[in-house]
Amino acid sequence: MNTHTPTPFSELSLVSLGGILRLTQIIEDFYTRLLKDPMIGFYFKPFSKEQLIQGQVEFVRRVFGDRSGTYELRPLLQVHAPFSLLPGQIARRFQILKETLKDWEVDPETTNRWLTADQKIGKTLTQ
Ligand code: HEM
Repeated sequence: MNTHTPTPFSELSLVSLGGILRLTQIIEDFYTRLLKDPMIGFYFKPFSKEQLIQGQVEFVRRVFGDRSGTYELRPLLQVHAPFSLLPGQIARRFQILKETLKDWEVDPETTNRWLTADQKIGKTLTQ
């Protein structure tokens, strides 16, 4: 009898990220970098770093098909509307995300899936 149940891609991806703890560490580092950035850091400074991290962790969990998180993600268009973001600012954040994933040695397949989802949202947040 074959009792083997194939692991879904989503779980594999979270395993390759080292699970939720490592994912949280990566995102914490991402926000540390964003907060220090001379071009876009000021946007994040008035907000709770913990909540920024929680929101981003939840977003990435969902990208990888993990719906078991408890953080209730708010509508991203509404959340970002007050900032009137410019394409260059979105691109700057994206560049910092890319550098962060590279420095944490996230594997290419996971990186690609994460960046693709992020870029897709990024396009909707600017006119
Ligand atoms: C330079 C561009 C961006 C800036 C300055 C920015 C800024 C912010 C700020 C200040 C918050 C917290 C708002 C609040 O707590 O009320 C936030 C939340 C969030 N942002 Fe961005 N953002 C940018 C681009 C993006 C992009 C491209 C994504 C793509 C995934 C994204 C995903 C999120 C998520 C998932 C949250 C959490 C929402 C929640 O807590 O429910 N952001 N952003």
